[in-house]
Amino acid sequence: MPGTDTKDIRLITAVPGPKSRALMERRRAAVARGPFHGTPVFVESAHGALLTDADGNRFIDLASGIGVVNCGHTPEPVVKAVREQAGRLLHASFNTTPYEPYVELCERLNAKAPGAFAKKSFLANSGAEAVENAVKIARAHTGRPAVVCFEHAFHGRTWMAMTLTAKAKPYKYGFGALCSDVYRAPFPYAYRGPATAAEAFARFKEVAAVQTAPSQVAAVIIEPVQGEGGFLPAPREFLAALRAFCSEHGIVLIADEIQCGFGRTGTLFASEQLGFEPDLITTAKGLAGGMPLSAVTGRAEMMDAPVEGAIGGTFGGNPSAVAAALAVLGMFESGGVLPRAKALGDALRSRLESWKAAYALVGDVRGLGPMLAVELVKDRATKEPAPEAVKAVVKHCYENGVIVLSAGSYGSCLRFLPPLVTTDAQLAEALDVVEAGLKKAGG
Ligand SMILES: Cc1ncc(COP(=O)(O)O)c(C=O)c1O
Repeated sequence: MPGTDTKDIRLITAVPGPKSRALMERRRAAVARGPFHGTPVFVESAHGALLTDADGNRFIDLASGIGVVNCGHTPEPVVKAVREQAGRLLHASFNTTPYEPYVELCERLNAKAPGAFAKKSFLANSGAEAVENAVKIARAHTGRPAVVCFEHAFHGRTWMAMTLTAKAKPYKYGFGALCSDVYRAPFPYAYRGPATAAEAFARFKEVAAVQTAPSQVAAVIIEPVQGEGGFLPAPREFLAALRAFCSEHGIVLIADEIQCGFGRTGTLFASEQLGFEPDLITTAKGLAGGMPLSAVTGRAEMMDAPVEGAIGGTFGGNPSAVAAALAVLGMFESGGVLPRAKALGDALRSRLESWKAAYALVGDVRGLGPMLAVELVKDRATKEPAPEAVKAVVKHCYENGVIVLSAGSYGSCLRFLPPLVTTDAQLAEALDVVEAGLKKAGG
């Protein structure tokens, strides 16, 4: 049986174990094919950076439920806040009878988001829903139709969000007509091009000023660090040029921080350390530490553009989800999470750089803070992507007690999204497993 002699990983069956395999049979019979599983293991409980499956196997988590449990699995303050809130008020619908925690969360998000201007917030349920609403707000504010987005972007699976998402398969494939008036510009991708911020911005201008006209553009939407696209950080100069262009032309600049926000890059918002002040910011994932919640935060006059009743919903800003988010903010404010995130980022980066020096398979190491990925290639000269190697490493990892995710337009990246409370020992133990997988996949 693989890897049972270490401290945190504990495997008592082969993975997936008999209970996970039986549950997968039930899943196949009862659940639609669409939802994909990176790992064929049914999780039963999780705490901190550790996750236990239905067979009692214990894993180190380098995925955080796709970048959600940044403060760790089931952090005590968050669980306590959810329990208390659930006992007091489970649901009211902010559209029916408002409640104070929703307002408090908006106040705190307004105060924390980058930019010294008056802000307002709006709460929804999922990342995609925040993106949809940000675009609605931008269109209502400007009265213009067009939206410019980027190659390798991921913004979600609802109609506008899926239109803004770059990759056709599987996200858009077979679903018919997409939204109109969406234009796509190249994203600065140092490893594969456009190689420089200046080149990428020149290409962006061609799209925004030639394929459409700036006077027609309601919004530009960008992930300051692309997530699903393969952990590509936008250079500061590129973001500054976008900022100037949007200000000049009255275009709403939206930062999608759904994956890169809430401490994932070592600051609460990635925009902070990139010197970036977008007009609107979308957040979700880490915002409520595991509860479904998203937000749009931005310039008050823009946020007020949709008329009363034009944005909202039955569940958006659910009281327990809001209580969770307030507890998450409390954890950030108490001071331990971000310094730990930075230390984790340093340790992770130095290990990944050592792999680049040692293994030809590792073509690139990139990201920001502890939001880091390696891109695997078949050949360093041609940079041909190696998605098969990524799949092999992911499989090796779960079979040996580590949960890790792939990413990238070509499926060629291994992305690391450890809970920010992961200890040095846990990180080292998990990365030993990943490294063994890399060696096995051809090194
Ligand atoms: C940057 C970004 N935007 C939007 C989304 C969509 O979020 P959700 O899956 O909650 O709809 C994601 C999800 O991965 C994301 O990474």
